[in-house]
Amino acid sequence: MKLILLGAPGAGKGTQAEVLSEKFDIPVISTGEIIRNALRQETTLGKQAKEYIDKGLLVPDNVVIGIIQERLNQDDCRNGFILDGFPRTVPQADALAEMNITLDKVLAIEVADEKIVQRMSGRRQCAKCGATYHLQYKPPVKESICNVCDGELIVRKDDEPETVQKRLEVYHEQTEPLKEYYKDKGLLVVAYGQEEIKDTISEVFKALGVG
Ligand code: AP5
Ligand code: MG
Repeated sequence: MKLILLGAPGAGKGTQAEVLSEKFDIPVISTGEIIRNALRQETTLGKQAKEYIDKGLLVPDNVVIGIIQERLNQDDCRNGFILDGFPRTVPQADALAEMNITLDKVLAIEVADEKIVQRMSGRRQCAKCGATYHLQYKPPVKESICNVCDGELIVRKDDEPETVQKRLEVYHEQTEPLKEYYKDKGLLVVAYGQEEIKDTISEVFKALGVG
């Protein structure tokens, strides 16, 4: 299964990617997570990306395309993968097409902007391992502590309300056209995000035609 997840910031791409990764036993490649790891480790990539991420802007295409080319060449991607957060622009989609990868499906997760803003205020992320929680919809067992590694749970810097608004604008302008792009290729399927995570999982399975 070679799958792309499309969706606004906070639509639930990361949450669904985790479930699908387990179901199909394939890795999730999240450009956002790769970049956030680089930020934590203060690598050259991290330093380059920081000014864009903090403003809610996209990191330049050539940087992200390079990351993906390198990642998709690794052995664990041979049987398939889930792309979470890539491609995000038409030039990125064109670059992926040039890598001669046969995609199975492109899943768009639809959630209204108002819902997104509300949701993002409750998201928490482990500062150490990156695991994601939600105060209301996916609370950790111990308050402010990661279930996986006991790390501290923090608010992602780009989840400040003004930055979320900017990210939504950028999404509608630069990423949403990809729905048409993949519809034209006959690859697009759509799932509507629900109030509860488990209900969205059912919608996603239905859209992908899996049980
Ligand atoms: P990235 O990390 O990809 O951020 P994003 O697309 O803005 O998406 P998020 O990770 O914020 O949300 P999500 O859809 O994964 O939702 P989640 O599952 O966490 O990118 C960050 C930045 O990196 C970009 O702004 C850009 O600067 C840069 N970047 C990355 N890729 C790039 C690229 N290709 N090109 C250029 N720049 C790039 O869910 C959100 C919350 O809601 C969670 O708390 C979750 O628990 C909860 N939740 C999920 N589903 C539900 C539900 N159904 N009901 C209730 N709560 C739910
Ligand atoms: Mg995510």
